[in-house]
Amino acid sequence: MKAVELREKFLKFFEKRGHKIIPSASLVPSEKVELAGTQRVLFTTAGMHPLVPYLLGEPHPHGKRLTNVQKSLRTDDIDEVGDAWHNTFFEMLGNWSLGGLNSKGGLAKHGADTKGGYWKKEAIEWSYEFLTEELKVPHEKIWVTVFAGDHDSPKDIESIKIWRKLKIPEGRIVELGKEDNWWGPVGAIGPCGPDTEMFVDVTGKPHSSTKLTTGGSTRLTTSGLGCRPGDNCGRFSEVWNNVFMEYDKQPDGTYKKLKQKNVDTGMGVERTTAVLQGKDNVFDTELFSSAMDLIKNKSANWNVKSARIIADHIRAAVFLIADGVSPSNVDRGYILRRLIRRAIRHGRLLGINENLSHPVAKEFIHIYGDIYPEVRSNSEKIHDELEAEEAKFQKVLTGGLREFEKLGDKITGKDAFYLYETYGFPPELTFELTAEKGLTIDRTLFNSEFEKHKEKSRDGAKQKFAGGLADHSEITIRGHTATHLLHQALRDVLGNQIHQTGSNITIERIRFDFSYGEKMTPEQIKEVEKIVNKKIKEDLKVTKTLMKQKEADKKGAIGLFPEKYEDKVSIYQIGPSIGLGRAYSVEYCGGPHVEHTGKVGKFKIVKEEGLGSGLRRIRATL
Ligand code: ALA
Repeated sequence: MKAVELREKFLKFFEKRGHKIIPSASLVPSEKVELAGTQRVLFTTAGMHPLVPYLLGEPHPHGKRLTNVQKSLRTDDIDEVGDAWHNTFFEMLGNWSLGGLNSKGGLAKHGADTKGGYWKKEAIEWSYEFLTEELKVPHEKIWVTVFAGDHDSPKDIESIKIWRKLKIPEGRIVELGKEDNWWGPVGAIGPCGPDTEMFVDVTGKPHSSTKLTTGGSTRLTTSGLGCRPGDNCGRFSEVWNNVFMEYDKQPDGTYKKLKQKNVDTGMGVERTTAVLQGKDNVFDTELFSSAMDLIKNKSANWNVKSARIIADHIRAAVFLIADGVSPSNVDRGYILRRLIRRAIRHGRLLGINENLSHPVAKEFIHIYGDIYPEVRSNSEKIHDELEAEEAKFQKVLTGGLREFEKLGDKITGKDAFYLYETYGFPPELTFELTAEKGLTIDRTLFNSEFEKHKEKSRDGAKQKFAGGLADHSEITIRGHTATHLLHQALRDVLGNQIHQTGSNITIERIRFDFSYGEKMTPEQIKEVEKIVNKKIKEDLKVTKTLMKQKEADKKGAIGLFPEKYEDKVSIYQIGPSIGLGRAYSVEYCGGPHVEHTGKVGKFKIVKEEGLGSGLRRIRATL
């Protein structure tokens, strides 16, 4: 079966069962989705992403049952691309139930009540029916996984019972934890839930490996049992995922019930097509084969991994440009640039030095132009952008590669930074090339050089913000006092090893940079926010004192900007010193500050993010 037939069959199957066919949303998330309470992510990463507002309860204009083919892009597995199954861009077939069960409370023989939503029974039964009757996957080859339950969410017994009723034998129903059988949210918060995944046994051979890795932990298998889905042993290909989305993950990491129960399913077009055609990789299907042949014909030193990377990345680039993304140095544009440049670099490895992206893109425009009209209508733009980027990169490559070779076998993180700064040579490429030589590179050294560079370019701006303050308005001064409380609260929660590395306070927001090696957990963020607000509520006195440096050190003063007055330093303390102990906050600082913390207002952390090389940034508002 070809992909075109698979898409059609899927949509028709669910249309017959009361689902409205909706078009794919753009790979660039809409503002509506970004505002729906989910965290900002660069791309549409799954079918559920554009539907987040409706999973949260907004009525969808086309009702409760929807079906679609959604374009998706994920770059977290980019290093896996080149193997048999991974893609950055992929198409996901989905059927959706957005809340609300039908009038009879249960559901729903084929279209009997096409207005109502449905839940596990219908979703699983339809999946099974589609797999076995429409796609003709033999019953014996179907394996499933279900959520095993853990400390904060119950085992999905309902799904297990439904699979048993469908006569999937006990040994082929595998229970796994959250790392395998839980889907969502997109970003850190929002709709999510347990899922049940369907696998096809593509080899039929039980593997008798003794050590298998599941989600980071190693478990032993008995040779009789062989490997199971979730073991990544190559025996199974995942084709479908049914997610029962009834939870809303909170910023503190807990799960609240959503207003409604939703069904979100995803069947990968590329993988399923390959499985149905009996191929052992997605690149042998008609979705890729013409591009792969073309690359093969052009290459002098054939290597399948590079060819797959080229095909995958150029295909993703075609779709990104069709959705309005242009190569650049930030955000989406940077990812696109990286995909194109990585493809071209692998072209070089194959000995292809002529224009590569144009002919490869042409294949994909031909393959997808009928299904995705935006690909056809933007074909000229796609070619122009790709060619311009390829030409730019040729120059960078020529200069950078020459320098890289000169470095011989001694390449440090500093060199990677030098290549980047002087030639625009992408650091990822230096890391890859170094790895190809069998050498390792100290990435922290690169990161720290990179940070210094960013710091330098910020310096100009910093001059204006003495001590991090943009102005001396009342709001900014309140923000300044809040950063002192924040600094101390971070130390309370994360430990005294954290240090401020910068701050920037305007009337709109507070930005606070500090050294810490890990991402803060939602709980830690909440705790820090709570402490700051508690200290504000206590209405502590804020006092400035000039003292000798030694004395300040004894008081445990912290902070970035010691302001010196002859032989003395200026210290701000918040709260009384308790006995001989320290006031709540003691910082080197020239001020200005409010006189009482009560004046600060309500403090809210908006974001916590990494800046690379062990630096974090908190954005907060009052
Ligand atoms: N959202 C689910 C997935 O992407 C269906 O696997």
